[in-house]
Amino acid sequence: MKISTILGTRPEIIKMSPVIRECEKQNVEYFILHTGQHYSYTLDKIFFNDLELPAARYNLDVGSGTHAEETGKMLMGIEKILREEKPDIVLVEGDTNTVLAGALAAAKLHIKVGHVEAGLRSHDRTMPEEINRVLADHVSDFLFAPTAKAKENLLNEGISENKISVTGNTIVDAVYQNLEIARRKADALTKLNLSTKEYFLVTAHRQENVDAKDRLKGILDGLILVYHTFNIPIIYPIHPRTKKRINEFGLEVPKGVELIEPLGFFEFLQLEANAKLVLTDSGGVQEETCILNVPCVTLRDNTERPETLEVGSNVLAGANQDKILEGVTLMLSKKRNWKNPFGDGKSGSRIIKILEGER
Ligand code: UD1
Ligand code: UDP
Repeated sequence: MKISTILGTRPEIIKMSPVIRECEKQNVEYFILHTGQHYSYTLDKIFFNDLELPAARYNLDVGSGTHAEETGKMLMGIEKILREEKPDIVLVEGDTNTVLAGALAAAKLHIKVGHVEAGLRSHDRTMPEEINRVLADHVSDFLFAPTAKAKENLLNEGISENKISVTGNTIVDAVYQNLEIARRKADALTKLNLSTKEYFLVTAHRQENVDAKDRLKGILDGLILVYHTFNIPIIYPIHPRTKKRINEFGLEVPKGVELIEPLGFFEFLQLEANAKLVLTDSGGVQEETCILNVPCVTLRDNTERPETLEVGSNVLAGANQDKILEGVTLMLSKKRNWKNPFGDGKSGSRIIKILEGER
């Protein structure tokens, strides 16, 4: 069995790392095809270094562009490599443009597609990620659903049960494999002069939030309210997309909000694990806070991670300042005793075993 692992952005590198480690461990033949969707050091190379991943055999260097530009360039580049390499299986992870391009290019060449983190649904087609994940699921042969709920979503769309396996989410593997290293190696708390549970951590980068001036302003206004109410630092490792939009829209970053460069995985995990609470629009961060027993306020109107709402680790606040403060106050009043619904940290090995069974 020869696997082509296609990835291109920060969350894919992190969530695919347990699968890559498992390929190494079990001597499975594989190679990494990087689309180059993310290319800045802090969104890309830093994770290969932190997670000690082998370099990609190919990097398409597609860079940034419109959805069609990114996806189109990727399709052409991926097709060419897959024709030459002739893998038995292409693996993609998540819901980015890279995932759509990887799955589609492979399916058209009649190469089997495995979708890691299949079946998530926000039921909001205005999100580019929702389109990507629906389409990727429907051309996939192996659907690795992280939870029973994700499997149910797939069944509801008519995908046949024999293609679906509930494996847990590889983010649990990534957190378990790296938390101890983060505790030992990361020094973000010291560098930023922070004390445990005496700061908030923020990430926000989603297109629907940061490309809309009113929503981005609503989020920043919400952070001002939170700062004035709790008077502890708000640390915001800022995605380049958001930084660009704040400048373009001429928005002011409120006092109390400390913008820093995006962090490597160890440093970010350390900040997450020790935060009083996290505010985010990230998918991965909603999951990680749930796994780490840190309360989360999601700066969105919906989520494809409803398990976090069900177990009580997360609440939706949208981009409205009053709702954001309300969400923070509510989550801080709750006990942090929920159970992680995303699996036991062995998803990577389960996925490889399932694929090997198909040889
Ligand atoms: C993409 C994914 C999103 C995911 C996020 C992870 C899609 C549709 N979106 O969003 O689901 O949550 O990655 O972080 O695939 N930029 C840089 N350096 C980089 C990459 C991007 O400066 O290495 C800037 C560019 O200005 C670019 C903008 O960020 O135009 C957006 O990049 P893009 O890859 O299109 O989308 P993300 O917002 O990163
Ligand atoms: N992350 C990181 N450094 C940061 C911000 C996030 O390492 O400064 C990690 C985080 O731990 C999580 C992943 O990036 O595993 C989430 O990626 P992102 O929010 O970019 O994408 P999404 O999950 O929303 O698709």
